[in-house]
This record gives sequence, structure tokens and C-alpha cells, in this order.
Amino acid sequence: ALPKRVKIVEVGPRDGLQNEKAIVPTPVKIKLIDMLSEAGLPVIEATSFVSPKWVPQMADNSDVLKGIQKFPGISYPVLTPNMKGFEAAVAAGAKEVSIFGAASELFTRKNVNCSIEESFQRFDGVVQAARAANIPVRGYVSCVLGCPYEGKVSPAKVAEVAKKLYSMGCYEISLGDTIGVGTPGLMKDMLTAVIHEVPVAALAVHCHDTYGQALANTLVALQMGVSVVDASVAGLGGCPYAKGASGNLATEDLVYMLTGLGIHTGVNLQKLLEAGDFICQALNRKTSSKVAQATCKL
Ligand code: HMG
Ligand code: MG
Repeated sequence: ALPKRVKIVEVGPRDGLQNEKAIVPTPVKIKLIDMLSEAGLPVIEATSFVSPKWVPQMADNSDVLKGIQKFPGISYPVLTPNMKGFEAAVAAGAKEVSIFGAASELFTRKNVNCSIEESFQRFDGVVQAARAANIPVRGYVSCVLGCPYEGKVSPAKVAEVAKKLYSMGCYEISLGDTIGVGTPGLMKDMLTAVIHEVPVAALAVHCHDTYGQALANTLVALQMGVSVVDASVAGLGGCPYAKGASGNLATEDLVYMLTGLGIHTGVNLQKLLEAGDFICQALNRKTSSKVAQATCKL
């Protein structure tokens, strides 16, 4: 049975913009997030507190987090891979953070410069500090349906990493098809393994759309009881350390499908389309959202 309501986690300002070559001006990022808040997204991932040498696009993290309007009832989590990131995030007013692990050893090395084991030692510090400060922590698992460096990833490995993050205290685990290679059968097998270890109510899916499978993979997850879905306005997105990764599932397309299924999201599609239009004009590019293309009046 499908869920009655779905919580959409908008990741465009972070996942979408981290991959842009040209530095997006801070006021543009702030306006995008404010427009997404206006559209009624309940969770908007605002930025990431990672090394500016690694991801220069996110170097204005503090200014973005401080500059956005904080709507009541909306949360604005940020990525924090280590204590340095966590402390900077809290100083900038973060009320929720995310740690990001992966089910692939080689991807972890490329992405955060350490082994899976070491990444968990860093996360441990972040989770303990967050608990002391009453800050909820979300956990990501990348490469759940395939890795750009290792190829196939076993559902057992994904379940192991997801369970570890959940046991550490992450309230929600987002399962990322980082390079968008998965198909619905793979999604089903992977989720079957993960649901064995982590309650389905604590799971989210995060599908990149490289091979055009993101909406289909997400629908399978909904059918299996998942009710939290990550998506990115205008289908922006990618990971600088995942060769070949393209944008996320477009939020507009997700909202359109969920509305058609009678599933409540609280999101105003018209306002969401306006936010997508705004960022595409600012980036001087065409939207990747099919719904935005279809409803474009030009
Ligand atoms: P490192 O070089 O191993 O770290 O990087 P280090 O502790 O040795 O520090 C080296 C330098 O970085 C030092 O500066 C630190 O101060 C600085 P220096 O002395 O050379 O001047 N540093 C920091 N600066 C600011 N903020 C910090 C921070 N930490 C250290 N938090 C590190 C380790 C994790 C920092 C690095 O590898 C990094 O920043 N990686 C970027 C990872 C990233 O942002 N990836 C993209 C997001 S994940 C994703 O997209 C996937 C997802 O969407 C889900 C999916 O699709 O699957 C979430
Ligand atoms: Mg991603």
C-alpha cells in the first residue's frame, strides 16, 4: 500500500549547486531557498560544511545559512562530515545536520578521503556532539545501487552501513543511488535487505536520474512503505566525486506524480515551478524537470 503522505526533502540548494563549476552568488542561493520555503517544502538541505578546497561552491555555507529566512515548521539541515564542519554549522545556526557515509570503500576514499571504518569514527564524534546539543542527525548511505569505482554494491553491505548509522542515532537514513544506475528490481532487493535491519519509517530514498530511472525507483520504494523522498528542484544535482553522476529526481516531477496518486505533500507545485524557473535562469540552463518543460508557456 502507498503512504498517505510523503515528506519531500529538497536537496537542490546543496546537491544541486555543489556540482556547479561557476560559483553561484550567495544572494541567488538565499533567494532560491526562500522561494522553496514559500513553496511549502518541509525540509530544505541548505548547504554543506565541507572543505572549501574540496568543494569551493559550498564555501559560503555560513552566509547562506545565516541569510535565509527560517520559516516555522521547516528544517534546514546541512552536511557535516566531521567535527570541524559540525562546529562551523552550529556557529552559523544549524538546527539539524547530516553525516554522509557510503556502502563503497573506494567511493568513501574519493569523497571524504578515508576508509568506511575511519568515516564512522569521525561520524561518532559528530553524533555525540549533536546529541549533547539536541541536534537531530540524518545519515546518508551513498552508492546503494552501484558505485562509479567498484561497480556492483551488495544489498547486504548497504544494510550493514545503514544499520550502523541508525544504531549510532541517526533518526533517518537516506539511501542514495549516487550515480543513478539502479533499476526498480535492484531497488526492491536493496530495500528488502535494509528493511530487515532498519524500520522502514526511518528510511528515505535519494535517486539521481542519470539513466532516467529515478521516478520508477522512487515509486517502488513508496510501494514498499518508504514515505520520505529526496528530490532536487529542476532536477539539479550531482556529486563531484562520483564520475558520471547527474541530477537528482526533479522535485516538480515527484510532486506531480504524488498528487496524481492522491498522496499529500503540502507542496505548492506552482510556487515550486517558479523556484525552478528562477534557478535555471540564474544558472542559464534548461530545466531537467519534465513537468516544468511541459507546463512552460513559451
Ligand atoms: P581531509 O583533507 O581528509 O581532511 O578532508 P583533514 O581533516 O585532513 O583537513 C584538511 C584540510 O581541510 C584542513 O585545512 C582542514 O582544516 C580542512 P588546511 O590545514 O589544509 O588549510 N577541513 C575543513 N574545512 C572546512 N570544513 C570542514 C573541514 N574539514 C577539514 N568540515 C573532508 C576530509 C571530509 C573535509 C574532505 O574530504 C571534504 O570536504 N570532502 C567533500 C565531500 C563532499 O562534499 N562531497 C559531496 C557531498 S556527498 C554527496 O553528494 C552524496 C549525497 O548527495 C548522497 C548520494 O547522492 O548518494 C549526500
Ligand atoms: Mg546526491
